[in-house]
Amino acid sequence: MPAKPHGGRLVRRVATPSRRQRILDSAHEFKKLPIDEEKAVDLENIAMGVYSPLEGFMYSDDLESVLVRMRLTNDVPWTLPIILDFREEQLAEVKEGDEVLLTLEDRPLALMEVEEVYDLDNREIAHLTFNTLSPEHPGVVKTMKQGEKALAGRILLVNRPPNPFERYTLWPAETRFLFRERGWKTVVGFQTRNAPHLGHEAIQKTALAIVDGLFINPVIGKKKRGDFRDEVILEAYKALISNYYPRDTAVLAVVRYNMRYAGPREAIHHAIMRKNFGCTHFIVGRDHAGVGNFYPPYAAQEIFKKFPDLGIQPLFFREFFYCEKCGGLANEKTCPHEERYRTRFSGTRIRELLSRGEVPPDRMMRPEVAQAILNFDNPFVV
Ligand code: ADX
Repeated sequence: MPAKPHGGRLVRRVATPSRRQRILDSAHEFKKLPIDEEKAVDLENIAMGVYSPLEGFMYSDDLESVLVRMRLTNDVPWTLPIILDFREEQLAEVKEGDEVLLTLEDRPLALMEVEEVYDLDNREIAHLTFNTLSPEHPGVVKTMKQGEKALAGRILLVNRPPNPFERYTLWPAETRFLFRERGWKTVVGFQTRNAPHLGHEAIQKTALAIVDGLFINPVIGKKKRGDFRDEVILEAYKALISNYYPRDTAVLAVVRYNMRYAGPREAIHHAIMRKNFGCTHFIVGRDHAGVGNFYPPYAAQEIFKKFPDLGIQPLFFREFFYCEKCGGLANEKTCPHEERYRTRFSGTRIRELLSRGEVPPDRMMRPEVAQAILNFDNPFVV
């Protein structure tokens, strides 16, 4: 059986065809509030159950509780703010009790019941979410630029935001069905924002040795400069899976989601999302969802101790490296040899080589994966 959805029930906030038609027919009666693509991604994730049990954007008391206690007010674990911010002037005519139409490039996306309008303290949000106020942290920079007001309330999706990766997208109801069809009782979820190197493959396969199936779930969305582009990650994984994974052991599907780079807090959030997809286990390796040196390399594993009630089993891995003496991949739990025999997987080094058009050594990256990446003129976000 797939894991129970977070909070107990898989949320679906999508208008039925008749309700949708009624909303669209009376669209002129609603105040329209434009949102950007990033908020549209969160909106769709709420509507499709990826963020279960959230049924809308957060209320101020839930936000405060999440920031301070890493739980919603009802005690369900939750670590990242999911809020809908606006500039004060955008909300001049909006009050609690209204229904508003959230739009993306003039197209209605969702009806929202405005249950609360509240002030945001973006400095506090940034500090508590990222544990730093450094202007070098991309999440801090973004949070400090948020509007100073937020709307909270349930949403009802009427149109899907355009999705260039529709073909590779599966929603929680679909993955749950798929895992059941395959007879997988245990499924390990793998979060990634990178093209796979051998370290990624090693942790996936070590996990796969003890569970029935692997769910490789790259996040598609806004990333930092220098990160792999979304289509590159997909092609790289297709090359890896078709050449190196037994048939029917891995499911590859993307989820649209904007990385926050919040390290430990984000690791919990990533686990919750995969629990909603039906995973029973979740991989957390070295410096999960980290950026620069903001988080100690295993802080994202330590934090799970605070959530014995998370409802998904984390699988922790120390850093994998290539050891010449072992003649293969190893980590500090399996390899007794000295540092000089070890080659570590440096994302920066791999990207450097690839950006010069060079194939990284095959102890770092599968040649088929490197080739799939090099088929792109520019594989990186600029
Ligand atoms: S992340 O931001 O999505 O965490 P990335 O795609 O690089 O970045 O990592 C995906 C998962 O692989 C994370 O759990 C991360 O900790 C893990 N990971 C990446 N490289 C290694 C490695 N060399 N050894 C162990 N775990 C790793």
